[in-house]
Amino acid sequence: MVDQAPRVAVVTGGGSGIGLATCKRLRREGFRLGVLDLDPAGASEAAADGLGLGVDVAVASEVSEAFAAVEETLGPVDVLINNAGITGSLEATRLHETPVDEWDRVMGVNVRGAYLCSRVALSSMVPRRSGHIITVASVAGMDPFPARSAYSVSKAAALLLARSIALDYAGDGIRSNAVCPGMAETPMTKWRLDQPDLRAAIETSIPIGRVAQPEEVAEAIALLASGRLAYMTGHGLVVDGGWSLR
Ligand SMILES: NC(=O)c1ccc[n+]([C@@H]2O[C@H](COP(=O)([O-])OP(=O)(O)OC[C@H]3O[C@@H](n4cnc5c(N)ncnc54)[C@H](O)[C@@H]3O)[C@@H](O)[C@H]2O)c1
Repeated sequence: MVDQAPRVAVVTGGGSGIGLATCKRLRREGFRLGVLDLDPAGASEAAADGLGLGVDVAVASEVSEAFAAVEETLGPVDVLINNAGITGSLEATRLHETPVDEWDRVMGVNVRGAYLCSRVALSSMVPRRSGHIITVASVAGMDPFPARSAYSVSKAAALLLARSIALDYAGDGIRSNAVCPGMAETPMTKWRLDQPDLRAAIETSIPIGRVAQPEEVAEAIALLASGRLAYMTGHGLVVDGGWSLR
């Protein structure tokens, strides 16, 4: 049995990189989009005929107001894509070297943000007994990246958030999955990939021999969002060119 085609998706962090590619891909699938991003212009552009809003996903009141506006404008949210995320500044390295504020900032966006958006989305999905939450975690949440403690821990939490929701809401007709990208070429990773030596070292360590384009991660998100994998819940879909095999 295939899910009924969902029509309204909220994409957080949809103004750039993987989120932007996901918005474009989902629009082609006929979704109407609510896009929540710190950058209101980027959000509006990505939403096209949907609704783009300047929102900090780590602020509860902003998230609640944004979901209310999306539901009023576009109707009930069928799919939430928790994509907004940050790696933290260059100071966010090994644990004892990571400033407390920086730790809190990374957790605030990557974990609290996904929690706040999921919480509001679920409160409207539960009475409808329908919905799908897709959280963009990372392979860093499965095996830690070196000297990226806050980011790795936050992505492990994001992955478990997806699995926890899957367990607690399966009986309510709601599914939850995660996508775990390896390295994709986006503004987040540009500073590394723009350095030829660093890029070569990264690409050598990836069995497929190159980093992903954001569209390749968006394709995995769109497959989950399509409802074609209707029996899948609590899964972390790894899209990393074989990186985590090494
Ligand atoms: N690029 C990669 O290699 C890679 C790998 C694994 C996982 N990821 C994850 O994919 C997601 C997207 O990453 P990306 O590479 O496209 O990054 P990006 O920096 O290109 O885009 C992130 C977007 O999130 C928005 N954002 C940041 N903080 C926000 C907040 N508090 N509230 C609302 N919006 C906020 C930014 O404005 C930006 O538009 C992140 O969760 C990231 O951790 C990326």
